Amino acid sequence: MEIIFASSNQNKAKEIQAALPKEFIIKTLLDLDFHEEIPETADTFAGNALLKAQFVAEKWNLPCFSDDSGLEIEALNNEPGVYSARYAGTQRNDDENMNLVLEKLQNETNRKACFKTVIALIIDGKTLLFEGKVDGTIRHDKIGNHGFGYDPIFEPEGLGKSFAEMDIEEKSNYSHRKRAVDQMVKYLILNTY
Ligand code: IMP
Repeated sequence: MEIIFASSNQNKAKEIQAALPKEFIIKTLLDLDFHEEIPETADTFAGNALLKAQFVAEKWNLPCFSDDSGLEIEALNNEPGVYSARYAGTQRNDDENMNLVLEKLQNETNRKACFKTVIALIIDGKTLLFEGKVDGTIRHDKIGNHGFGYDPIFEPEGLGKSFAEMDIEEKSNYSHRKRAVDQMVKYLILNTY
């Protein structure tokens, strides 16, 4: 069975493909020769994931899913949330985004935060949502060279090191994205064959 991932991100697509039995073939928007960005105008992760999956379902009428992720910081009323990629401006600069977070938390003792991913899956006329979450804290400085986004300032609970100090394999044991994907995979295996 082919399932469309409503994204152009080949790395994410590869990761998800690797988690699925070989009967499931993940195709991306690039395989559909679609090179535009689908608007993400909702104010929740679930809303944005649904917008992207519904866009694909309506346009191509194929089984599809999409994801939306971000960082929520308790002391900042769950900012940056859906604005995680462009928190410090539209240029999507990871370093500037992290600097803004560190600046806003300068005198803050509550460093609690979490990463969340919501996946929206549309298949057999049904729409399903799967959420993955990892709790942790925001460090006072950046550390580590792996990963992307806010990884250098985020420490998953109880581990004493940042996501950026872990290689992909180690991060995947705790990753919000992996946790959401695992739930979708479980659903697909139990419900489609
Ligand atoms: P996306 O929806 O997966 O593209 O994530 C949106 C933004 O959230 C990214 O551009 C990053 O700034 C942030 N983000 C999401 N997942 C992670 C992660 O695993 N590590 C660090 N930052 C992340």
